[in-house]
Amino acid sequence: MGHVRINPSILAADFVNMQSEVQRIRTADLVHVDVMDNHFVPNLTFGPQMVGRIQDVSPIPLDVHLMIDDPDRWAPGYAELGAYSVTFHAEAAHDPVALARKLRAIGARAGIAVKPGTGVERYLDLLEEFDQVLVMTVEPGFGGQSFMPETMPKLQALRAAVEARGLDVWLQVDGGITEETIVTAAAAGADTFVAGSSVFRGEPAERIAALRDAASAH
Ligand code: DX5
Ligand code: ZN
Repeated sequence: MGHVRINPSILAADFVNMQSEVQRIRTADLVHVDVMDNHFVPNLTFGPQMVGRIQDVSPIPLDVHLMIDDPDRWAPGYAELGAYSVTFHAEAAHDPVALARKLRAIGARAGIAVKPGTGVERYLDLLEEFDQVLVMTVEPGFGGQSFMPETMPKLQALRAAVEARGLDVWLQVDGGITEETIVTAAAAGADTFVAGSSVFRGEPAERIAALRDAASAH
């Protein structure tokens, strides 16, 4: 396994103290920012104005995860405000390849996400179009849910395709990642790990280091 990335999700942070919360995770790789619109998922977080302010004060770059309808319309705005990566859902996008090309043209990494029930077969031949693929390991919408091991065959298929074609596409998991489940996800081929409650529940710097160790040691 090459470099392991740990991206804490600020969905589990204290929303009214976001500036100090992002400081607590500065030893991580990227800040994972969950944008929810109460339509694609039954929960609501924040939009571009808040994400722009987080970007202004964050010591590390932003990994934006859009759980919203019509990302074709809204995702480019997050790239324009300077997000390092912008990931939209396959289930919501009208033209995923065109959208990914637009995000890359603006200068962001382009990511595509799939819910637990969505297959990845149709994207295996399109992997060159994306910088990262996010396999949801819980149903999107809420933090604190249990990891779904039945999603692991999708990671194995993605990892095999990435290796066979010599691509540099990050394979990300999100939901229920702990020091135990991260080992399962790393073994299945993930290299980028989103963790919300397991990071913010404890001392974030310690939890980030422990997750990094567990993923590297698998
Ligand atoms: C869920 C979000 C996740 C969430 C993960 O829809 O996409 O990023 O914050 O939270 P935990 O790590 O608590 O499962
Ligand atoms: Zn997320």
